[in-house]
Amino acid sequence: MIFNLFKFKSKKPKSAVPKAKEPLLEAMENYKNSPMTGFHIPGHNRGEGVHPRFKNLIGADVLKLDTTDEFDNLGTLHPSTGAIKEAQEIAANVYGAKRTYFITTGSTTANLALAFGVTNPNEEILIGRNCHRSVLTGLIMTGAKVNWVIPKKLNDWAIFGNIDPDDIEHKLKTNRNIKLVWITNPTYEGVVSDIKKISEICKKYKASLIVDEAHGSLWKFNSKLPKSALEYGADAVVHSLHKTGGAMTQASMLHLAKNSRFDEEKITHALKLFHTTSPSLLLLTSLDAQRSYLNSSDGAKKLNSAIENALYFRKEAKNIKNLSVLDGDIDCTIDITKIFIKMKGLTGLELEHILEYDYNIEIESASDEGLLILSNIGNAKDEFEHLINSLKEISKKIEENQYIYKSKNNKIMPLVDPDIVMNLKEAYFAPKELVKKEEAIGRISSEVIALCPPGISILLPGEIIKQEHMPYLFDYDKLEVIKE
Ligand SMILES: Cc1ncc(COP(=O)(O)O)c(C=O)c1O
Repeated sequence: MIFNLFKFKSKKPKSAVPKAKEPLLEAMENYKNSPMTGFHIPGHNRGEGVHPRFKNLIGADVLKLDTTDEFDNLGTLHPSTGAIKEAQEIAANVYGAKRTYFITTGSTTANLALAFGVTNPNEEILIGRNCHRSVLTGLIMTGAKVNWVIPKKLNDWAIFGNIDPDDIEHKLKTNRNIKLVWITNPTYEGVVSDIKKISEICKKYKASLIVDEAHGSLWKFNSKLPKSALEYGADAVVHSLHKTGGAMTQASMLHLAKNSRFDEEKITHALKLFHTTSPSLLLLTSLDAQRSYLNSSDGAKKLNSAIENALYFRKEAKNIKNLSVLDGDIDCTIDITKIFIKMKGLTGLELEHILEYDYNIEIESASDEGLLILSNIGNAKDEFEHLINSLKEISKKIEENQYIYKSKNNKIMPLVDPDIVMNLKEAYFAPKELVKKEEAIGRISSEVIALCPPGISILLPGEIIKQEHMPYLFDYDKLEVIKE
């Protein structure tokens, strides 16, 4: 009896078992069928203690598999052991990385860990202004000194575009203290920067490069999509597999490149500090499964059809009056699966509303200017036909003056160049006060204002609040400013 208990509770993987192609998936299949009596967390004990209605809603099997690391030869995440370690190693191999970390708390955690793992107080770093707010949270904590590189402004679309490599070169040339460049690629709306050139410039000035590729986790798997920064010599790359890669929500990966200049131990340590100590095995398994699927012929077919559907949409959209689609130009390419559109006569938010309520179509996000559609691996051609037909009908109704909307509420990102007067960390921790929004003009912001999606900052601690920010802050009555 005692022998059996030890056998079942061993944290060590069985050594003689040949390596599986999907180690975590396999380990979880075994776990599901194992005849175990559990006296541990999670207390619902494979779903037995759960509200029946909830169980019915999500399915009993999901609850059976809702467990954390440590049990039944599943391995542990920190430190990585067993099936979890094996799954991470295979993912690293597929993505062409030296090391891949699985994360169950989103790319936010990857960015926090990178900030802690590679930046120091007062160290100068160069960041794309369209970075996700998690990057800034990390830098507020470490106290690194932020220099901005402002991406091209696509004013007609009210979004940021690509980062000009020459701007990076200029910053690195004029401030030789900058030894780290951290940029986002692609943008949320699919605009792609020239990472090859940026990476070469970074090498020339001996600066490391992090690319937040949260929205590019599929690129590795189809040559019609842009190349991942891992192939262009970035030191670390972040992938939100849960965004477009088909993994479950919050499941992400952080990759260290083969020739990464970063200290692996420091990053491993930082991840341990920031990551939950109860990683969901369901999410970890979803990363293992999805990596395998995307790398299989079935997965390739799905991705290919996402690309075909995007091309179909782009072609059909050309024939719809009033409709424009954001495309690449001579400066930059675009991830064609991300389709940013606008319809003359309606704001993006109005179009979103009409699509949702009149046509049962949900899109990714909308602003006053336009809206974002994703051609995903889970979409079918007939769904795109429905979308195209709906847009045709809406366009016709615009022509017939059937819509009387046009009520802009200014949900447009102000692409304002920041006036920085204080260090991010100092400003965040300085004494502050709340003032009426209108009275805040000219004062120093002490809060991060970044609406989600896409989580890009409009104002940061240490920056002057300007009149141009006001229209976007329609949701705010008061703003937090540094006390005078
Ligand atoms: C570029 C970018 N990086 C990081 C994140 C954070 O990702 P997550 O939501 O997985 O924490 C996001 C989220 O939208 C993002 O757009």
